[in-house]
Amino acid sequence: MALRNLIFTAAAALFAAKAGAVDNGLAITPQMGWDNWNALGCDVSEDLLLQTAELIVDYGLKDLGYHYVVLDDCWSKGRNASNNNSLIADSSKFPNGMAAVADRLHELGLGFGMYSDAGKYTCGGYAGSLGYETVDANTFASWGVDYLKYDNCYNMGQAGNQQISEARYAKMANALNATGRPILYSLCNWGEDYPWNWGSTIANSWRISGDVYDNWDTYDSRCPCTGADAWNCGLPGFHCSILNIANKASFIVSKAQPGAWNDLDMLEVGNGAMTDAEYVAHFSLWAAVKSPLIMGNDIRTIAPADLSILSNAAVIAVNQDPSGSSAGRRWLYGINGSDPFVGPSIQLWSGSLKSTTGGTYSDMVVLLINGADETDPKAQRKQVKMSWEVRDLWANRMSTDEAAAIIAASTATGNVTTGYNATEVGTGRYNVTATSYAAGLAANDTLLLGNVTTTVQPSGTVTATVDPHGAAMFRLRAVPTAAVKKRDEL
Ligand code: GAL
Repeated sequence: MALRNLIFTAAAALFAAKAGAVDNGLAITPQMGWDNWNALGCDVSEDLLLQTAELIVDYGLKDLGYHYVVLDDCWSKGRNASNNNSLIADSSKFPNGMAAVADRLHELGLGFGMYSDAGKYTCGGYAGSLGYETVDANTFASWGVDYLKYDNCYNMGQAGNQQISEARYAKMANALNATGRPILYSLCNWGEDYPWNWGSTIANSWRISGDVYDNWDTYDSRCPCTGADAWNCGLPGFHCSILNIANKASFIVSKAQPGAWNDLDMLEVGNGAMTDAEYVAHFSLWAAVKSPLIMGNDIRTIAPADLSILSNAAVIAVNQDPSGSSAGRRWLYGINGSDPFVGPSIQLWSGSLKSTTGGTYSDMVVLLINGADETDPKAQRKQVKMSWEVRDLWANRMSTDEAAAIIAASTATGNVTTGYNATEVGTGRYNVTATSYAAGLAANDTLLLGNVTTTVQPSGTVTATVDPHGAAMFRLRAVPTAAVKKRDEL
């Protein structure tokens, strides 16, 4: 008996030690926020971060859950040899220092994200953290940092298999944990060495591919692994299109879990090179696959249509669903006989969501993507066995006029605090700081459930007409009949 207890205790201790590497209580649902890189690259400053933060509050984006303001590459100016070799913030860009930025973000109820690199240099050529993990983690904690994006450039050959990469990234995980400050840990090694296999033991998320760019589906040889080989992609590359990254994600959706997510990269919504339909599809996919939702556009110049996409609470509620299970791709067809990985395709993704009907039956998310250049290939899925209430998650998209009114009402044109809240202008905006997505779903808040379009009967068909390069996204809620057993419907 005593021996058995001992074994149990030893096993529990082992588990606690392992869980401790990532058990920071963060990202129980995918993290949300903003990062400057996609729109602004190295053009970073205190003004940019704080002005963006004001706008995130003013535009109601904070209330929708966008929490972290993440500073990307190019912020530092070397190390201070007389202060333990700690990193120095570039005072021309951050005149009041990083702790002041963190303080202001915290005052606004936001979190501060920081960037560094598990290499000798960052990708922009600034000092990296390899060999300085402890001193840098301590510096970040002392500044009040809440999030670390950790890149992969100049890794000094410490890559090439899973063990080597994991060990390099684990050093920073341990250093962050040792600070005692909960710091969300976001790996950015571009999918090299299969981070979905080991990332969950040390981090809250891991990038699954080379850098996204503002493009729907253009083939680019700088982003390898375009087809069925994407599950085994050893070469990360960059200039990856939305459909390229979605394809990579399709093979590894099962790796996502509460606290540890596949990161499909920052959003491109609002960066100008895709159509409205493409941005809708991009946002819908990222949400359904449980990617972190990190806005990547310049919020200071956001267009109303883009604000309205990023503000769709019914879609965000899928991403933030308490069950934390990623949708998966159920089928992919080439249009007119083309290779679906190369030519235009249609595809269906679906997955289970926590029940909002209080019953045994999970809700479902169904996402139809039309990669074709024509409308209406009538993407469909046949043969449901029971009745489902079908709710359109884009039906209540905020109008462009309403988004324009929200933008116009903000006076945060400099570092001005207005105290203004978009819920005062926008009618019926969801406010997650008052009611979490989990609570809102449990209470059947209509802002989260979408519009009922139809009820599909047993043996029926869910059909949607989808814009070219666009998406239709539905929440299906079970209308159970006594005779039907719980099963995987879609
Ligand atoms: C890349 C990374 C980008 C951005 C950039 C900064 O490696 O994937 O998201 O952080 O470095 O130089």
